[in-house]
Amino acid sequence: MLAALGSLAAALWAGLHLRTLLLGAFVFLTLLDYIKRRPPKNYPPGPPRLPFFGNFFQLDFRKPHETVQRFVKKYGNLLSLDLGYFSSVTVTGLPLIKEVLVHTEQNILSRPVTAIRYRVFKKHGLLMSSGQEWKEQRRFALMTLRNFGLGKKSIDERIQEEAHYLVETIQEEKGQPFNPHFKINNAVSNIICSVTFGERFEYDDARFQELLKLLDEATYLEASMWSELYSIFPWLMKFLPGPHQTVIRDWEKLKLFVSREIESHKKDWNPDEPRDFIDAYLTEMTKHTDNTTSSFHEESLVCSTLDLFFAGTETTSTTLRWALLYMAMNPGIQEKVQAEIDRVLGQSQQPSTASREHMPYTNAVIHEVQRMGNIVPLNVPRVVTYDTTLAGYNLPKGTMILTNLTALHRDPKEWATPDTFNPEHFLENGQFKKRESFMPFSIGKRVCLGEQLARAELFIFFTSLMQKFTFEPPANEKLNLNFRSGLTLSPVSYRICAVPRV
Ligand code: HEM
Ligand SMILES: *[C@@H]1O[C@H](CO)[C@@H](O)[C@H](O)[C@H]1NC(C)=O
Ligand SMILES: *[C@@H]1O[C@H](CO)[C@@H](O)[C@H](O)[C@H]1NC(C)=O
Repeated sequence: MLAALGSLAAALWAGLHLRTLLLGAFVFLTLLDYIKRRPPKNYPPGPPRLPFFGNFFQLDFRKPHETVQRFVKKYGNLLSLDLGYFSSVTVTGLPLIKEVLVHTEQNILSRPVTAIRYRVFKKHGLLMSSGQEWKEQRRFALMTLRNFGLGKKSIDERIQEEAHYLVETIQEEKGQPFNPHFKINNAVSNIICSVTFGERFEYDDARFQELLKLLDEATYLEASMWSELYSIFPWLMKFLPGPHQTVIRDWEKLKLFVSREIESHKKDWNPDEPRDFIDAYLTEMTKHTDNTTSSFHEESLVCSTLDLFFAGTETTSTTLRWALLYMAMNPGIQEKVQAEIDRVLGQSQQPSTASREHMPYTNAVIHEVQRMGNIVPLNVPRVVTYDTTLAGYNLPKGTMILTNLTALHRDPKEWATPDTFNPEHFLENGQFKKRESFMPFSIGKRVCLGEQLARAELFIFFTSLMQKFTFEPPANEKLNLNFRSGLTLSPVSYRICAVPRV
């Protein structure tokens, strides 16, 4: 009896003990978290944060660029938000964005790497690398892409040829409703593929279509709540199933595809006759074989190539998908584009970047698509590498910097009709007019590496499609501008009719 009482007491004690211990640990960790993440003096204001999660629960992951609007109104143009894994500051308004991307640029050239990205890419590649490695990889990529014709006539010809194939495959739809998503992605991707891998892929190549779907899925899911949770609690989320595991699997499969391409390049590689980016990179690697601090090794070859493949595919095709939607929803504007095409090119001459100068209206429409489409709404994040001040506030080392391109592209002070599709924003007396508040490619030393290529692709693909087809909503269906928010803002899946013009 006594023994039984004794063991009961012991059990109670142990239970109590455990609970006290857990409670104590929780209080301790919360305090630690509080101290660790207490904002420094003169830090930009923001909403109050929870321990561990920061402002996580205050963000809507389906449209993060919109939900914080109330905060911007309340706290002003420099808004601090704690994402749980990074302290971030969002910069709004042209003067401040220019200030941060141009004047303090030297202190914010690096990228913050989330845990989920680190898992697959470490800090290698072009998009997310920093410091010396970024400098070396970017310089090499720019030089090599130029050697393979970027910014020259030869890349124009490559795009024209691909545009021809795209028109052909869309002709097969015979004006019936179809979803243009992966045909467009394939066409756009073939341009960067021909530069990086030395080949293009047929639109009915099931294996390549599968890769494009992986890329699309990863782009979407990497910005999901699950991936954010992975970045806050990697040690836990690593073991839990969910969309974050899909993202990791997708990127791993894409890396495998690139690795296989590299292996097959090695087989018939001739250093004297580089065929593409991979060949040129293999040659560069031989110059650094004895150097352990060099960034030219096989892992970064895979990552840089995959970055070009990803950045060169998703962004431009998403923009083109927005373009078709805007045209089908604004038939009057589409007609004007076609009238300009008929006047300058007719039906037989293919558009080239040289025709752009003679086609201000079409050029303005493409710019307006980019303004309204606004596919990278908060720019690609940067991170502060040296304590910096901006507008009187302190931005300590390690702060993630987001620049609010949405606010810029929809600023009522800068645009006559900020929320309406209106090419006149880029026209003056019938001539094309550049606008300072338009920066879909960002600005500064880390500006989009593919801007020239993207602009050539957008112009030639868009103009070729407008030359041959009129895009219309399917009978009895209404098109809308609903979007899906991932690493890019893209239109939700839609069907459209491409009615042949002749
Ligand atoms: C409409 C199409 C495109 C848009 C809107 C776009 C937008 C952007 C933006 C906003 C950045 C971040 C710049 C910054 O941090 O300040 C970026 C970076 C980058 N883009 Fe693009 N991009 C497009 C097309 C392309 C294409 C076709 C390529 C292919 C070569 C490409 C390759 C890259 C790379 C490699 C980076 C990383 C540069 C670095 O971190 O140094 N982009 N892009
Ligand atoms: C960016 O600007 C838009 C438009 O003004 C606003 O709705 C949004 O809340 C801003 N986002 C952030 C993160 O500041
Ligand atoms: C090794 O690589 C680093 C980084 O690229 C470079 O700064 C250094 O000069 C190289 N050393 C030699 C011996 O080539």
